[in-house]
Amino acid sequence: MKEQLLKLEERALEEIAAIDDPPELEKFRIKYLGKKGQLTSMMKSVGGLPSDERPKIGKLANLVKINLSKRFQEAKESLFSGKVGRDGFIDVTLPGREPVFGHLHPITLVIKEVCEIFSRMGFRVVKGPNVELDYYNFEALNIPKDHPARDMQDTFYISDNVVLRTHTSPIQVRVMESRQPPVSIIAPGKVYRRDSDVSHTPMFHQVEGLLVDKDVSFGDLKGTLTSFVRQMFGSDTRLRFRPSFFPFTEPSAEVDILCVLCGGKGCRTCSHTGWLEILGSGMVDPEVYRFVDYDADIYSGFAFGMGIERIAMLKYGIDDIQLFFKNDMRFLRQF
Ligand code: PHE
Repeated sequence: MKEQLLKLEERALEEIAAIDDPPELEKFRIKYLGKKGQLTSMMKSVGGLPSDERPKIGKLANLVKINLSKRFQEAKESLFSGKVGRDGFIDVTLPGREPVFGHLHPITLVIKEVCEIFSRMGFRVVKGPNVELDYYNFEALNIPKDHPARDMQDTFYISDNVVLRTHTSPIQVRVMESRQPPVSIIAPGKVYRRDSDVSHTPMFHQVEGLLVDKDVSFGDLKGTLTSFVRQMFGSDTRLRFRPSFFPFTEPSAEVDILCVLCGGKGCRTCSHTGWLEILGSGMVDPEVYRFVDYDADIYSGFAFGMGIERIAMLKYGIDDIQLFFKNDMRFLRQF
């Protein structure tokens, strides 16, 4: 019996030294230390030995068991070190860790949607520089040197004739300067004004649109913008064209939609008018054509510009423009 025990111990130690994966280790445990394991059965048979052998063999069997159990624990710890789960085992029933997916900012989403709507109508997406010459931002748009829009209060000047663009309209001029009609473009981008309060941020986004061809009328402007508004805000959205003024369009109109919050009854958001302004537009002023060498007797066109933050606020019911720039994940994750 003594020999058997020592042989068993030797064999077991050899085996466990070669084990390098958890299922094998578990097999080992069952084979030697389990309820019906080899060592366990030998220990049971100790009771049947003559009484003079019993204590010696019993003691030896116990030592073998302690030794194998210790080796088993050591092997288990080294196999599972650094792995998660109860008792160091990998719990395959635990739910997996979800990968974190990024997503687009609400402003980016609205810009994309606006550009997609106009792309479907045949407008091409173009870009222009954020740091712009005074000439493109003002002069060629018929905004002369003494115009109030150039006031230091509104415009960030880089130098005497270089500014951070205050609107996306300079892109109109750059496009017309580079090719003859027909042109139809849509131009998204950042714009800058020295303004900051609950409804203004020093940087915000606009999308500019321009279409010039033969026989373009104010009716085309109305039709195009009506179609845009209905695609953006829903097919039953009510809108109106309200006479306005811009130095580079004549006639000019601002487009209002029925207040999304009060439905036209009048509330704080719409200053009790029932309407919300969403964009500026107009027929390109012939004065602008002079700067880009377009023949105003042959061509006519319309332009429009809209503030993206404003569109996003109305579309998603957001009442604070600063939220777009705070990078609070709880806010951003909703879109
Ligand atoms: N650029 C004007 C603004 O920033 C909007 C506009 C664009 C108006 C094009 C008419 C035509 O307010």
